[in-house]
Amino acid sequence: MPVGIEEIAFYTPKFSLDMVDLANARGEEPDKYTIGIGQTTQSVVPNYEDVVTMGVNAAKNFIEQIDRKSIEMLLFATESGVDNSKSGAIFAKNFLGLKDGIRAIELKQACYAGTLALMQAKDFVRIHPDKKVLVIASDVARYGLNTPGEVTQGAGAVAMLISADPKVAVINDDTVYMVKDEPDFWRPLDSDIALVDGHQSTDVYKEMFLALWGRYKQENTLSLDDIAAWGFHMPYTKMAKKALDQILPEVSNDQQEALREHLAEAQFYNRHVGNLYTGSLYLSLLSLLDRSDSLSAGDRIGLFSFGSGAEAELFSLTLSAGFQEQVAKNRIQSMLDQRQKLSMAEYEAVFLSQHFDSKNEEKTDAPEHTRLCQFIGWQDRYRKYRIAK
Ligand code: HMG
Repeated sequence: MPVGIEEIAFYTPKFSLDMVDLANARGEEPDKYTIGIGQTTQSVVPNYEDVVTMGVNAAKNFIEQIDRKSIEMLLFATESGVDNSKSGAIFAKNFLGLKDGIRAIELKQACYAGTLALMQAKDFVRIHPDKKVLVIASDVARYGLNTPGEVTQGAGAVAMLISADPKVAVINDDTVYMVKDEPDFWRPLDSDIALVDGHQSTDVYKEMFLALWGRYKQENTLSLDDIAAWGFHMPYTKMAKKALDQILPEVSNDQQEALREHLAEAQFYNRHVGNLYTGSLYLSLLSLLDRSDSLSAGDRIGLFSFGSGAEAELFSLTLSAGFQEQVAKNRIQSMLDQRQKLSMAEYEAVFLSQHFDSKNEEKTDAPEHTRLCQFIGWQDRYRKYRIAK
């Protein structure tokens, strides 16, 4: 029985920073950021947004059009959770109006956890075909002011409804995965910024892609000619190029050209949003499906999921008839165009305003009169949110 993605939606906060402004402020060549690393703008998170608000705001794009009672499980993937104990899934379940008779849990393994959620959802629906699973992958990529990772920051969430009515794409039974203990990227419990050995992390990513691609081909008796296009976890868009370049010589020049063109489509939105950790691969998928006019139903899309530390998975989707309409509902380009561009001074102020002390009854800058879910501050050391029902 085919199981896969019925709905997919994206949300990113309303502020952005131009990478040319960042390069100029940090004494770097703008071309290093825009060409060498491949980022044009990044989303900046105001202090009234977090992984809960972004995840809820993504899922709100389709939750009112579906039968909420059919959702039996909510899997919330993040590595920038809001509490050391309580799961973001429970906040999200409440704000999305899901029934109490549901399982809801938060999953963590760097940028990889969204893919574990997707695979668990697929297996669950296979056994319970009348039920659906909501997967939310939501993160804030935060490396700190004046760090080499700063150009690879970003934020956002992707929500996916997994069911036996896969209107976007079927998740194929061809996955391969692996784990290697690597000290390439981590975030100590007392730190709100990630620590990273950037060049080592890039090497680990490339190595794991190559190892899994070798296994994928062998175990599924498939070749690169069988893959119409790729989506990648994209900490920065050049990373995906570095991975794909390793295997392009396996096909003809024409096929290499076609895969490169599709990669540009799969990089497009990520180039304008930045890293969103768990959601990054699925934004790349959205970007590919939204920007391409040459993909069609039945095409096989290869996806590479990577989370530092490190864990990776390589699998494929088969596109369903009508996937374009399902994806276009998101109007991602218009969401990105409507973001407010910040100056460097404004960006640094917004960045530093994220530091709250839960012992103080602090309020965030959440504006009134919005239908979006917002974090409004601390009360009795508990996070308080607002959402228009
Ligand atoms: P860096 O040291 O600032 O940059 O770090 P660089 O010196 O390596 O230069 C970057 C590229 O720009 C190079 O190209 C230069 O040649 C080029 P490459 O050799 O790589 O092809 N360049 C120029 N190009 C054009 N014009 C110029 C110019 N100057 C230089 N004038 C790095 C860059 C990405 C490593 C850094 O930003 C960083 O540490 N980022 C964070 C870590 C990261 O994103 N790692 C990716 C893999 S790990 C991963 O994906 C997991 C992750 O998402 C976390 C998780 O799983 O939770 C991060």
